[in-house]
Amino acid sequence: MACCSEQALLGQRYSSQGGVGNGSCVPPPPFQKVKFSFTLVMAKLLARSREPSRVVDSLIPFVGPRITRSSCRYDPFRFAAFFPKNCQPMSSHSNTIKRLTVPEFSAMKHKGERIAMLTAYDYSMASLVDQAGIDGILVGDSMSMVVQGHDSTLPVTLDEMIYHANMVGRAVQRALVVVDMPFPSNYLGVHRAIENAGNILKRSQAQAVKLEGGAEQSSVIAGLVAAGIPVMAHVGLRPQSVHQLGGYRVQRDAEQLMEDAVAAENAGAFSVVLECIPDSVATEISAKLRIPTIGIGAGPHCDGQILVFHDLLGLTPGKLPKHVKKYAELGQIIRNAVAAYCEDVKQQQFPGPENSFQ
Ligand code: KIV
Repeated sequence: MACCSEQALLGQRYSSQGGVGNGSCVPPPPFQKVKFSFTLVMAKLLARSREPSRVVDSLIPFVGPRITRSSCRYDPFRFAAFFPKNCQPMSSHSNTIKRLTVPEFSAMKHKGERIAMLTAYDYSMASLVDQAGIDGILVGDSMSMVVQGHDSTLPVTLDEMIYHANMVGRAVQRALVVVDMPFPSNYLGVHRAIENAGNILKRSQAQAVKLEGGAEQSSVIAGLVAAGIPVMAHVGLRPQSVHQLGGYRVQRDAEQLMEDAVAAENAGAFSVVLECIPDSVATEISAKLRIPTIGIGAGPHCDGQILVFHDLLGLTPGKLPKHVKKYAELGQIIRNAVAAYCEDVKQQQFPGPENSFQ
């Protein structure tokens, strides 16, 4: 452990990082506090009451038409409006309080707000992505390829997904965190799927899981949702089925795609990823579903978009698929920086006096 003066010298990396998990929480302004306490009391009343509709009736003069009898049923879109943003009385953990919740995420579609998602796989990158203002972070099984170097998403294990989800969960303060169920953790029957998804939520700070599948996974989705585990479905190109699909190719069976997306919504999914499907089909699905569609290679009319971190930032070697847009060339920046460091070491230019202790 460094002493105080040394800590100052060593700089930020060794000082307290603040924020995450340190219990610090900016207190809300007094009015917000009153409004929040009122909402919290009313929510507790509603939850305990045997006749919630009577409680709701008595609330109407105070809160107006935002709460109606039908809000007594759990409906994510209404329920999101019930609590002030960033003040969800779900947990006292500062991390969870500030995060976008599943109902708020779903409600973005109805507010006409586009949803921006990106993958992330570790603490430092997830912190940067979160600080940049992303709405949702997926700890994707694409990790198998871009982090672990495999040639498909099949090899990554449940324990490895949880290990990385944990790092991401510790970093993220604002975005919704979703974790992929790796192959074949959601194909072993509903009970095993609940056990596996439950483990993901228990051992990371993620809020939801994603699983590949639509109609054929509807009983699994329903089982997970009944267990209180929010599910993002994934239809179209499903990389875990690469051998069955015969390669990574655009999926064009419009009828099947619509059937899968509708089945996922009916089973209780809060959102669905549409991967590599024609723009026109994605447009139709997005118009039909109440839950948000998140596209990757599915055109501009989805309710949100997702890309793989390494693809967006120029860290993936080789040719990228057509649907990817590279926003930076970090690969080249890293190579240049490391080459400059090597040269400095060889030429005895590093460390200089400014990097040395007297
Ligand atoms: O694993 C992943 O990264 C994904 C998406 C990019 C949707 O499933």
